[in-house]
Amino acid sequence: MSTPPVTAPLLSAKGLRLAFGGVKAADGIDLDVMPGEFLAIIGPNGAGKTTFINMSTGYLRPQAGSIEFDGQPILGLKPRAIVRRGIGRSFQLPQLFTEHTVLENAALAVASRLGPWSPLTPLLRPAWREEAMDLLERFGLAQVAESRADTLNEGARKLADIAMAVALQPRLLLMDEPTSGVAAAEKMQIVETLVRVLRQSGVTAVFVEHDMDVVARFADRVAVWSQGRIAALGPPAQVLADPVVQRDVIGISTHA
Ligand SMILES: Nc1ncnc2c1ncn2[C@@H]1O[C@H](COP(=O)(O)OP(=O)(O)OP(=O)(O)O)[C@@H](O)[C@H]1O
Ligand SMILES: [Mg+2]
Repeated sequence: MSTPPVTAPLLSAKGLRLAFGGVKAADGIDLDVMPGEFLAIIGPNGAGKTTFINMSTGYLRPQAGSIEFDGQPILGLKPRAIVRRGIGRSFQLPQLFTEHTVLENAALAVASRLGPWSPLTPLLRPAWREEAMDLLERFGLAQVAESRADTLNEGARKLADIAMAVALQPRLLLMDEPTSGVAAAEKMQIVETLVRVLRQSGVTAVFVEHDMDVVARFADRVAVWSQGRIAALGPPAQVLADPVVQRDVIGISTHA
């Protein structure tokens, strides 16, 4: 009898530990992210969700454990080197050049993927501009391409930030609260847009989310963070219905 083919995880974290003084921000994190999936991370403030993203992207080094991406160890690599391996991220607060236009921001991201950029490099080479414009169109941001980044509403700002991460052509994108600060009425639309673009581009995604409606609708699996540990992991229908998760996590989960 032949065994079914085993799919290797794209990201594999094992035994991650990191304490800040007495606070265990990671207390034995084991997590495999499978290629193509959308995995949501939920959990109360201070549970260690951002810490996990920081460890996976080279911003923080765990005191113990290992992380492999596509079968290769990435612990100890600098954030820039991890980006080059194919892991992108977006932050809890968008990291845009606020005095530049949205198109300039996107063109800079394209430029930074293609090679070293210096202040003497012309800001908008036609090829970068074209690729950036194409990217903005996919994110539904073409109408605001010529607007300064600091004039955007929070939803558009979040999408622009994620567009810049996508410009680096990641295979895995880690998003820290892509909908925080976005008005409730706008939220589903924003996530719909970004999920569509990421799926079209074949990007695997991990996203930290406090809105359970978003999680239920868009996540393939949910990991529940609690005091530096993963307290539950599985399909949203199962995890979100768990009375312990409802009492201990969803009940006290608040927006940052
Ligand atoms: N660089 C740091 N120095 C000291 N303590 C830190 C640092 N980063 C995180 N912590 C602490 O580690 C714990 C986990 O923080 P983390 O930011 O990962 O939580 P979180 O789940 O992302 O919370 P939130 O939902 O509020 O964003 C918290 O107690 C936090 O104060
Ligand atoms: Mg956080």
